[in-house]
Amino acid sequence: MSETLQQHAAADHAMRHWNYPGRTPVRIGSDEHKQMFCRMLLETHNPYKPAVIDWPPLAPGELHRITSLPIWDIAVQTEGRASIRVAAFASTVRDALLRQALDMDGAEEARHKAVLSKLVEAYGIKLAPEPEYPVPKNAVRAWMVTGYSECIDSFFAFGLFRSAQKSGYFPQELVETFEPVIQEEARHILFFVNWVAWYRRNLPWWRRPAFLVRSLTVWAFLIWERIGIARGIDADGVMHDAKFAATGASNIGEELSPRAMIELCLTENDRRMSGYDERLLRPTTVPRLAKFALRFLKK
Ligand SMILES: [Fe+2]
Ligand SMILES: [Fe+2]
Repeated sequence: MSETLQQHAAADHAMRHWNYPGRTPVRIGSDEHKQMFCRMLLETHNPYKPAVIDWPPLAPGELHRITSLPIWDIAVQTEGRASIRVAAFASTVRDALLRQALDMDGAEEARHKAVLSKLVEAYGIKLAPEPEYPVPKNAVRAWMVTGYSECIDSFFAFGLFRSAQKSGYFPQELVETFEPVIQEEARHILFFVNWVAWYRRNLPWWRRPAFLVRSLTVWAFLIWERIGIARGIDADGVMHDAKFAATGASNIGEELSPRAMIELCLTENDRRMSGYDERLLRPTTVPRLAKFALRFLKK
């Protein structure tokens, strides 16, 4: 193996496997808990550079399949918004370690957008004009909107990505190129759910009900936003790749029943989370809802 390939493999392994020192339990909400989830994000960073990614040449059929996927507008705009929202929240945080981790999270979102821009350029994908990404007025809420939306979207992206790989819809080289981006989202949601638990525990009791209400309004907003995306219009009224939610799975994956698709998402979610310290909390809401939905879907 060449030296570059070895470095690449080592960085890839490091981003997926991480343990906090010691074996003693870590109390959720403690300073040690904060150290643990911040260090997880910082120490699993993969330093790849979007500018040096070699986009594999695609055969005409493959190129058409990739360029006609109805996801590129949504993907570019989601990453654009996420990087501004995370950066806005980071700028309000005084704790040095948490700030450093949040700065990294925001920089990774900006890097996702850079990766997508390079891909769009390399394959000549036509994008809708990008809207402005205003700096949010309420930074905590914006951070929570991004965090919870990643919890929903990443869960389904894990399954769709795997399905597209198995079906050969995405050529293998492209899967390899994109794989670190998908794993980064797994790290982000792991970081986020631990932050939520830590933050909530550290609020005085009288502020906790308001935080619960805020969390519920964020979820309500995200459900409403996803209904809009399915119709081709987003929360700011910008037109997107229409009907992705309705057509995405059948477009890119194998022919999977809804049940098999959800099962694949659950398996992939577990696999992507499995390499990180067991004392870190895992995202549970979306997997639980998915398991609940399975009860109503035929075998
Ligand atoms: Fe991202
Ligand atoms: Fe993310």
